[in-house]
Amino acid sequence: MNLKIAVLPGDGIGPEISRQGVDVMTAVCERFGHNVSYEYAICGADAIDKVGDPFPEETFKTCMNADAVLFSAVGDPKFDNDPTAKVRPEQGLLAMRKKLGLFANIRPVETFDCLIHKSPLKDELVSGADFICIRELTGGMYFGEKYQDNDKAYDTNAYTRHEVERILEVAYKYAMQRRKHLTVVDKANVLASSRLWRQVAKEVALRYPEVETDYMFVDNAAMRMIQDPKFFDVMVTENTFGDILTDEGSCITGSMGLLPSASTGEHTPVFEPIHGSWPQAKGQNIANPLAQILSVAMLFEYFGLKEEGALVRKAVNASLDANVRTPEIQVEGGARYGTKEVGAWIVDYIKNA
Ligand code: IPM
Ligand code: MN
Repeated sequence: MNLKIAVLPGDGIGPEISRQGVDVMTAVCERFGHNVSYEYAICGADAIDKVGDPFPEETFKTCMNADAVLFSAVGDPKFDNDPTAKVRPEQGLLAMRKKLGLFANIRPVETFDCLIHKSPLKDELVSGADFICIRELTGGMYFGEKYQDNDKAYDTNAYTRHEVERILEVAYKYAMQRRKHLTVVDKANVLASSRLWRQVAKEVALRYPEVETDYMFVDNAAMRMIQDPKFFDVMVTENTFGDILTDEGSCITGSMGLLPSASTGEHTPVFEPIHGSWPQAKGQNIANPLAQILSVAMLFEYFGLKEEGALVRKAVNASLDANVRTPEIQVEGGARYGTKEVGAWIVDYIKNA
């Protein structure tokens, strides 16, 4: 297969983990005889510094011309602490999602047996937890009408029937492939937008009689996730709720550095870790590359390359089992492996597998 990949390393730890993702991708493609090529493009704070735009037209073109985008992270504290900044790195990520029509963000929350103890939750609660959050990615408050002056500000949480229906269809497709249990997460007791979600969900549910659908308020879902994470199989929710709940989900897995995601929709799909740019760790070779590497597994799987994806997952599991881990998940007293060393170990494993 020919694979043309747009690589967007971005900011902070982005470039470091990006390199590991690319190396893993190259190793797998070599092994399976795929012809992969990469085109690099700028985004985020890096692109603001270079051309004044966090998602320049050039980058958009590179993404549109690719089969897939391997994205890393954007964000820089110099913008976080400046509420008056006119452009922000995050706008680059949002522009990419919007312009590529990536309305469905697939965020699996899985556990690794050897990392169960890294979760702040009790082992027996976490062990075996395995669900997917389907986060709507191009609507809601992120993109609704906004206003801000010195006395007043608002963000509008707008959704159309079409937007809700298409994300629910994605969620039901996933539920059909899994344990056939879908939880629709909303705040229908307070929000009009959520009431529309629930109404549309009830209609779409009729098309999937085999799937058990339940409806849960987001506050309750946040609690249920830590009280009984195994309750969930597939959950579907709007943009903002999905953002919050998936960070919470990383506490089930044990580290933010372990959760990959796929963003799909109308144009080129994007594969990205759910974590941010962790600027404090930039250049220190301590960031966990696994979320990025697992995003590569999701990329292969998206193109139906199951064995390739499975090999990446196998290599990741082997690295964890061998204690080749970045500091935040290393066992007490264990050797310290850096971003590069974890990546290199995994590449080696793939070459010799
Ligand atoms: C994520 C991130 C982004 C989001 C930020 C960086 C804009 O937190 O992908 O979850 O809020 O969607
Ligand atoms: Mn987030």
